[in-house]
Amino acid sequence: MKKIVIAIDGPAGSGKSSSAKIVAERLGYIYIDTGAMYRAVTLEALRRGIAENEAEICKILDEINIELRTSPQGQRTILNGEDVSDDIRLPGVTRLVSPVSAIGCVREKLVAEQRRIGERGGIVMDGRDIGTVVFPNAELKIYLVASIEARTERRAKELRAKGIRVEIEEIKKQIIERDNYDSSRAISPLRKAEDAILIDTSEMTLEQQSELIIELANKIINL
Ligand code: DC
Repeated sequence: MKKIVIAIDGPAGSGKSSSAKIVAERLGYIYIDTGAMYRAVTLEALRRGIAENEAEICKILDEINIELRTSPQGQRTILNGEDVSDDIRLPGVTRLVSPVSAIGCVREKLVAEQRRIGERGGIVMDGRDIGTVVFPNAELKIYLVASIEARTERRAKELRAKGIRVEIEEIKKQIIERDNYDSSRAISPLRKAEDAILIDTSEMTLEQQSELIIELANKIINL
């Protein structure tokens, strides 16, 4: 059976990672969360106290090794041998990940790794530039959007489930800031690829959006 590349892009909270995980599981594909890779670089930069110093970040990139491992608890992110899956979701990392991910040397390194991971197909990769830059020839490109209200509510729910106290207005502000940053940066800004299929998930359940993507994928796989 044909093993395709499924690229899922969109702004924060649009449902990318939750649906990408389900789609990958049901198709027997590998799920790659590229945001986790940018978060891991940001975490390492924060630990070294250089998160706001572009030149220093570029200098230490060769010392950063990121592995994405599949486990029964979902994808784990391993930074230089340490499981940092929880730490990369901390608010301090979320606050700085947009500027760090806008740095040219960071994107160059991570895009090369993402292409290597996905070269044989059979993957569902989510991010901001997968359909436009990482895999412009992906067989299926999805661009997910949702209203700011729906996205804020989803993020709040995720954080609450982890026992983190949340301020709705603060989450909303951070999402808007991150959207603006990610869409206006010079290199690989967040945007819909011309041939991507737009899905508004505001009124959709996770099951509905995942099913829709699987249906679209199966049409291509069974061609
Ligand atoms: O999907 P996420 O919220 O975990 O992503 C964190 C940040 O990483 C996001 O604000 C922008 C950046 N990112 C990116 O620039 N390109 C990607 N392919 C994935 C994420």
